[in-house]
Amino acid sequence: MFGKKKQQPQIDKEQLELIENAQKRIKQKKRLYAHFVLFLIGCVLIIAANTVLGIGKDFTIAGINWFVYAILIWLFLFLYHLFNVFVTNKFMGKAWEQQQMEKLVAKQQHRIDQLKESFRKEEEIKAKSEVFNELNSSEAVETKKDSELTIIVAAAENDAIGRGNQLIWHLSDDLKRFKSLTSGHHIIMGRKTLESFPKPLPNRTHVVITRQRDYKAPEGVIIVHSLEDAIDAAKSDSQPFIIGGGQIYKQALSANLVDKIELTRVHEDFEADAFFPKIDTTIWKETNNVFNKKDAEHEHEFSFITYERI
Ligand SMILES: NC(=O)c1ccc[n+]([C@@H]2O[C@H](COP(=O)([O-])OP(=O)(O)OC[C@H]3O[C@@H](n4cnc5c(N)ncnc54)[C@H](OP(=O)(O)O)[C@@H]3O)[C@@H](O)[C@H]2O)c1
Repeated sequence: MFGKKKQQPQIDKEQLELIENAQKRIKQKKRLYAHFVLFLIGCVLIIAANTVLGIGKDFTIAGINWFVYAILIWLFLFLYHLFNVFVTNKFMGKAWEQQQMEKLVAKQQHRIDQLKESFRKEEEIKAKSEVFNELNSSEAVETKKDSELTIIVAAAENDAIGRGNQLIWHLSDDLKRFKSLTSGHHIIMGRKTLESFPKPLPNRTHVVITRQRDYKAPEGVIIVHSLEDAIDAAKSDSQPFIIGGGQIYKQALSANLVDKIELTRVHEDFEADAFFPKIDTTIWKETNNVFNKKDAEHEHEFSFITYERI
């Protein structure tokens, strides 16, 4: 009942096919060899029949004995057999040829698939490296953004900022905020704003923009001749401030160089000769707003508003 099952030899399909083909080939060669031996014996017998036994002794074609033609015809058949076995492999049959063709096609298809796969992998690596490079470059931009160029300004509801090269109002909390935000930093300004101060502000590096090549400024003040040079002079600073006046604010905003605006909005209209540009709320979003009431030290209501680039 539980007798051992006879083990089947485990030969894979491809090996089996190779063995079968080799066996076929041996058979073909054996047949060819037999043909050759038969041909030799046949030749001897034909010659003997003619010369010894005298069969068809008088039968000649163009003066040549018939057995010569017989041997030549047989030789031709033998050579044809030889040609088919070694050159055309015809004896393997149509099915074998078809099989070989299918194998060749499958092999080529496999190779094409391999190439496609390696091409796809290469593309993947390339795409990844492109994303990596993009990330790297955006990181580089972000690194640049570590330096946050900030405008600081006090502007009325009608955007007035100054008159007769002076501020229009006195708001002590605004001055304190200005001092606390800008202390220790570079402050970039136009020549007129510098001249509106009685003297340079303590604990800040002044960068002053003028077109005058021979402009004489107090000691320690850096003189430059363009806004770009001013920003460059402050590049070591994590937060350089543009502190005015009207001309410099306008140029900085229109050149899209600024990252942040710290605005003190004074809630009244004033007559002025210097103005702050309109804040474009499609570019700037308000991120902080602190309202301040009038009091003994502040004769106007005002708000501290922070804008950041969208
Ligand atoms: N409310 C506030 O927060 C605030 C802040 C700052 C100032 N302010 C007020 O603003 C007023 C001053 O503003 P403003 O517009 O008249 O003057 P400004 O912007 O302070 O300075 C203008 C000067 O900067 C130089 N300049 C401008 N663009 C230049 C460029 N592209 N290349 C080289 N140099 C350039 C020129 O100097 P040169 O003429 O020497 O060539 C020009 O005359 C004052 O009333 C001040 O009190 C108000």
